[in-house]
Amino acid sequence: MNKTLKLNKEEENRYLNILNETLSAEYGSALEMLAACKLSEKDTFAYGYFQHSKDEYNHSKTFYSILGKYGRKFGEEISRKYRFNTNSLIAKGYLSREGYLIETMKLKDFIAYVYTNELLARDSFEGILKLFKKNSNERDQISQIMSDELRHHGLAEQHFLKYYPKLQPWQLMIYRFRESVKNKGRKFYDKNLKFLDKILTPLYYSLAFIAGKIIYLIDLDQFQREGKNLMDIKSKSII
Ligand SMILES: [Fe+2]
Ligand SMILES: [Fe+2]
Repeated sequence: MNKTLKLNKEEENRYLNILNETLSAEYGSALEMLAACKLSEKDTFAYGYFQHSKDEYNHSKTFYSILGKYGRKFGEEISRKYRFNTNSLIAKGYLSREGYLIETMKLKDFIAYVYTNELLARDSFEGILKLFKKNSNERDQISQIMSDELRHHGLAEQHFLKYYPKLQPWQLMIYRFRESVKNKGRKFYDKNLKFLDKILTPLYYSLAFIAGKIIYLIDLDQFQREGKNLMDIKSKSII
């Protein structure tokens, strides 16, 4: 990360958030491609999806290591917030509760989706690249990822033109527009989620505090069962 830049807390949050979101997107893509590999009808398709999944998994691994490195630098309090957790992929919209895309979309739409998203991913990496200083290891790693995404985009395009030659370029543009809107929607949802988190966290803490107080006041000895005749315990007893 740019060493000449002295980051304040807000910027540190922004940097780690970008790394965490990108890691989630890459990990989600790896799983989507693996699902597509499993459901492929042809060996050649399965091979292509498998290679794609492997690339996406390696991208997620790269971002995982960058996130870990900067998380340590920025301190425990902030890094704890941006720990990667695969459970968050559904909540953040990188995977759907309804199933993998290959299961829920028409094959044609799925390939168009891959085609447009690879290009969108590459564009978003342009911004991420600026977070790191020139000639840094991270820049080299991200540049490599960008060329992978462009290759994926090209392969999806080839596939598309081969199997759906009747589809016009403007139709692909519509796919792309739709995905851009969805991406923006996801960011909006994420912001709302963070806003709710700010309101609800103090409430959770207060409830936990009250529950702690109540447990402290309860005489737990009465729940001691050793040496007691269990038949004597009231049927309404909660423990
Ligand atoms: Fe990727
Ligand atoms: Fe990709």
